Amino acid sequence: MKSNPILITILAATILSRAAALQAAEVEPQKPTMVPPITPTSSATPSLKTAFKDVFLVGVAINSSHATGHGTGRRSSELVGQEIALIKAQFNQISPDNDLKWEKIHPRNGADGYNFGPADAYVDFGENNGLLLVGHTLVWHNQTPDWVFAGTNPPPQSAHSTNRVTPGYFKPVYAGPRASREELLERMRDHIHKVVGRYKGKVKVWDVVNEALADGPPENYLRDSLWMQIIGPDFIAKAFQYAHEADPDVILRYNDFALENPVKVQKLVSLIKSLQEQKVPIHAIGTQSHLNLDSAQFEKIDRSLDEIAKLGIPIHITELDLSGGNNDEKQLAYEGVFRAVMKHRDSVKLVTFWGVDDAVSWLRDGSPLLFDGNCQPKPAFDAVIRVAKETQTVVLPAVGSSAEDVAIHKKALAPTPPLGWNSYDSYGNQIREEETLRNLEVFAKKLAPHGYQYFVLDLGWYSEDVCIPGSVRSMGNILDFALDGNGYPIGSRTYFPNGMKRIADRAHKLGVKFGLHMMRGMVRKAWVYNLPVKGTPYRMRDIADTNNACLWANFTYGVDMTKPGAQEYYDGVIQHLADMGVDMIKYDDVVNYPPELEAIGKAVAKCKRDILLSLSPGDDTTPKNKDYYKLGHMLRITGDVWDSHSSLNNCFKRWRDWQGAAEPGFWPDMDMLCLGTLNGMCDPATQDERERRNLKPEELGRKNLEEVFFRPCHFTPGQEHTFLTLRAMSASPLFMGGCLLRSEQRVFDVITDRDVLACNQNGVSGTLQSQQASIDVWRTPKAGKLGQGWIGVFNRNETAPVTFTPSFNDFGLPGGSYRFRSIWTKEPVNIDKPVTIAPDDVLFLEYGSN
Ligand code: XIL
Repeated sequence: MKSNPILITILAATILSRAAALQAAEVEPQKPTMVPPITPTSSATPSLKTAFKDVFLVGVAINSSHATGHGTGRRSSELVGQEIALIKAQFNQISPDNDLKWEKIHPRNGADGYNFGPADAYVDFGENNGLLLVGHTLVWHNQTPDWVFAGTNPPPQSAHSTNRVTPGYFKPVYAGPRASREELLERMRDHIHKVVGRYKGKVKVWDVVNEALADGPPENYLRDSLWMQIIGPDFIAKAFQYAHEADPDVILRYNDFALENPVKVQKLVSLIKSLQEQKVPIHAIGTQSHLNLDSAQFEKIDRSLDEIAKLGIPIHITELDLSGGNNDEKQLAYEGVFRAVMKHRDSVKLVTFWGVDDAVSWLRDGSPLLFDGNCQPKPAFDAVIRVAKETQTVVLPAVGSSAEDVAIHKKALAPTPPLGWNSYDSYGNQIREEETLRNLEVFAKKLAPHGYQYFVLDLGWYSEDVCIPGSVRSMGNILDFALDGNGYPIGSRTYFPNGMKRIADRAHKLGVKFGLHMMRGMVRKAWVYNLPVKGTPYRMRDIADTNNACLWANFTYGVDMTKPGAQEYYDGVIQHLADMGVDMIKYDDVVNYPPELEAIGKAVAKCKRDILLSLSPGDDTTPKNKDYYKLGHMLRITGDVWDSHSSLNNCFKRWRDWQGAAEPGFWPDMDMLCLGTLNGMCDPATQDERERRNLKPEELGRKNLEEVFFRPCHFTPGQEHTFLTLRAMSASPLFMGGCLLRSEQRVFDVITDRDVLACNQNGVSGTLQSQQASIDVWRTPKAGKLGQGWIGVFNRNETAPVTFTPSFNDFGLPGGSYRFRSIWTKEPVNIDKPVTIAPDDVLFLEYGSN
């Protein structure tokens, strides 16, 4: 359970509002909602440039006050001073908001028509402070003086009515007699050579052409600007050519806005491709990213970056700000934007915010940036930093010898990939005792006979929070958890009024093993009450590490393993769970915290009860840290996986990263099987559905659980086969996530398919053999058998079928004679002929040499 959408939504809506938490504490002081806020002091405020230092530069648009240090009528010199300090502390790149635009730097015609003063100040400021300098912008239809376009050619009839701009923002378009094409090209060349030449070697990136694409339907391709009207479409290529002449080393950028719009981004792709075909020197794409709550959605940014990335040159986010919504909504939106950006970290090389803080933003919306008008970080800032931390891999130090012992000791418990069920995909954080028991009965009857062993309850089993039925909104007890006097979690009075032992006992009676989800560290409620650390003279505040809290949920604190009593705390937690009858722990928020991971591994190894240890979260785990992760039997290697094409893509990517790493006792894990009947409120891919279900209070009581809570899996049959083939061939643990009471029999049949289980339990993670067009071929050898195994021919294209002519070479097989059988049709397959594979589908073959 990582980046749990329910939790995140709730966190954003309720917990993260520190004020709300404190207010609640004031109203009912005896209630354990008094969670201390993690407010960074200003010296401890993290910086954007450091948080993303291994990924991209983080920049900001500055104005002339910042460059010169002078206050203005609106901003006192003290505030300007604070902003300058903020620029230096947070950013490693700057863009000029106006000072390098044509109207500022070259207001008049003629040799003395330049005004370099403000631009020089900007460049000096950057140089003196070690900031990468961007020049913005050379050729644009706005903020360009009329003289540039003026001449003796009569304007066309339509001149006064074309190319109007938003009234009040920019001045009306020049409508007088015009320069000729040659004159305008000459002015452009002169301007570019002078300006680029002056800052050669200093300004490292130039926005050469800004906003040349038209808005509106696909047929409105290029903006009908005066550049376009007078010169024609090659004004773009010419501008790049002149800039390249002036400084052959500078990075030349094409910059435009609204590229979140699928129509506009296609125009960009056509334009840049055609420029690339003409060998125009263009080195980066700037996507301005003036966003609002709608365009900032993860899916939209993700798709837009996907398209731009296809051009094969770096992407710069050049003018980021976000209008609309309140602080909470903005925080969520910024989080989505940065998650999407981090997903495209291979392409994105620079992210520039359009303004230092809300007070100096160009937008009318009062708060589009990460810092408020007093230069204080806002919740959106915290969210961006959190994403930076969550999405980057931590390479752990060398593993201690005690950890190796633990790994060896634990091997016997999971000789093959563990199989089971987990409540999260179908019940989120809200499964109740009776539903649990009913699922357990079905598990024992339908899955256990096929080797499924572990029945696991995810986060929520010790929570006293209740969501409004059919909604992801909390009733308000979100920070209350059921703990015993030692701070150990016990069954929630709300969800498991008869305790967890009742469930464990029933499971054991049915021959099923029982698992629970845990979070690293201690529940903050234990810290608030400063409970004793069992078996020691210490208390929770002696061992807590409040600076090492979970980054995506804020009800826990870390444990400082250098403190006496810390190992005893973890020993006690594990023993407590063992006493409850727990056979498996899914330990969350643990992979990037080596000392605590080691402590948990040791505690599990010491414990007399056999406990299977599963480690989460997974999106940034790396095989480099395998020695540490081997403290557990299972390691999540993906973020939350759902029934979408993009989740499948991520699984393929992570399989590639981790291919071949599975071994007895250690199983890289691609999350639950999101098949059958799922929880409609957890799935990030169906956000609309979730919002629709966010019922109004007056609707409560009229809907039943079925109507509001569940939804069917959205996979196509081909995607379902792909999903299971992936897991079978990578030897990923199989934990059914769908509701066992509501999923149709067909789903049980498919997840207990003998051939699928045989491939999975073979326990070998396959490797990628070949890739061509949209086809990926993977092969998993049969353990201990020569010339036998499984082959997956995956069509990774979501929309188009592919015809594939198989060859032994593509399969990675030495020549010879083989038999092939399709796992999904159970029929022999003759691979001499071309085969057509449907979109997102797979040909899953078992092979054996004759
Ligand atoms: C804006 C500046 O921030 C404002 O101060 C000015 O009044 C208008 O221009 N796209 C761009 C930027 O490429 O140059 C614009 O900057 C915002 C839109």
